Amino acid sequence: MKILVTGGAGYIGSHIVRALGERGDDVVVYDNLSHGHRWAVLHGTLVEGDLGDRSLLGDVFRKGRFDAVMHMAASIVVDESVREPLEYYRNNVGNALNLIEACLSFRVHTVIFSSTAAVYGIPDRVPVKEDEPLRPINPYGASKAMVERMLEDVSASSPLRYVALRYFNVAGADRFARIGQAHRDATHLITVALRTALGERECLDIFGSDYDTPDGTCIRDYIHVDDLADAHILALEHVGKRRESAVFNCGYGYGHSVGDVVKRVKKVTGIDFPVRYTERRPGDPPALVADAERIKREIGWRPRYDDLDYIIETAWEWEKKRAATLRTRP
Ligand SMILES: NC(=O)c1ccc[n+]([C@@H]2O[C@H](COP(=O)([O-])OP(=O)(O)OC[C@H]3O[C@@H](n4cnc5c(N)ncnc54)[C@H](O)[C@@H]3O)[C@@H](O)[C@H]2O)c1
Repeated sequence: MKILVTGGAGYIGSHIVRALGERGDDVVVYDNLSHGHRWAVLHGTLVEGDLGDRSLLGDVFRKGRFDAVMHMAASIVVDESVREPLEYYRNNVGNALNLIEACLSFRVHTVIFSSTAAVYGIPDRVPVKEDEPLRPINPYGASKAMVERMLEDVSASSPLRYVALRYFNVAGADRFARIGQAHRDATHLITVALRTALGERECLDIFGSDYDTPDGTCIRDYIHVDDLADAHILALEHVGKRRESAVFNCGYGYGHSVGDVVKRVKKVTGIDFPVRYTERRPGDPPALVADAERIKREIGWRPRYDDLDYIIETAWEWEKKRAATLRTRP
């Protein structure tokens, strides 16, 4: 298939592009490199461009004759979205509208969209099912819920069909450490813990230790980025064959506490780094875990890397390589 991947030079996008390449798909990555990297695109062609540039986007669609679009480009930092909401609505909603319009104009009727567990806000029930009400509590989550709604409405009024994948906590890296999380200021727990183990940060903050959970710290559902890549490929096949739109959670269906993740990071790295317990962050639910039955039942997704130690080991190999490369740069 010929596939356009927006944000394909970023952390998750680069793993999906690699997986599509291994399948033999023809890939064009569209990325403004605001957070992505040229070296992370292991397959296909990179077009350096912004989704706000409708004229370039039109040219790429005209030349590309794509069978499908995977839309991963977005601004992704929750705290920043609270400080700069309009930037998030512009990039995540306004630019998604440009892209969906281009899909309709050029008759690309299959879209896979990167959504997030942040659309649920603080869910009433955990594990959370896809039909829970969407009550995002920050502009980032709201922007993703808006795009889901836009896709739903467009799907009802046109031949476009889509799958929105609501990712839980994505972690881990390519098994050969070729690509991984390269955000300098990444906020994801496993990355931050590993960078603390490497001495890049003085200490790891744990936000809140008085939650109603077994060890008092928050519980999250961590999914390996390569299992997520598999989910995208199955989603693509699902829309291609059945021409039905769908929404699926992507997680393993159980969680680990922050305290447990920190212990496992110390065990895998063999490094005992300093940890500081601080106040809760506003809006952090005590537990956020996916009910992942629908994606297994409807598209046959089966996790292959459902093992926290493996997730941490692959991320650790990547972080060591990233740090060494940084040190050798002028
Ligand atoms: N990382 C997670 O745990 C997580 C969880 C839930 C959802 N998601 C979603 O997954 C997707 C990918 O996230 P990621 O962690 O790989 O982030 P990332 O920042 O590494 O990747 C996003 C990519 O999009 C590009 N981009 C951003 N705005 C653009 C624009 N206007 N035009 C062109 N390119 C643009 C960036 O340069 C970057 O390469 C995002 O949509 C994010 O909301 C991520």
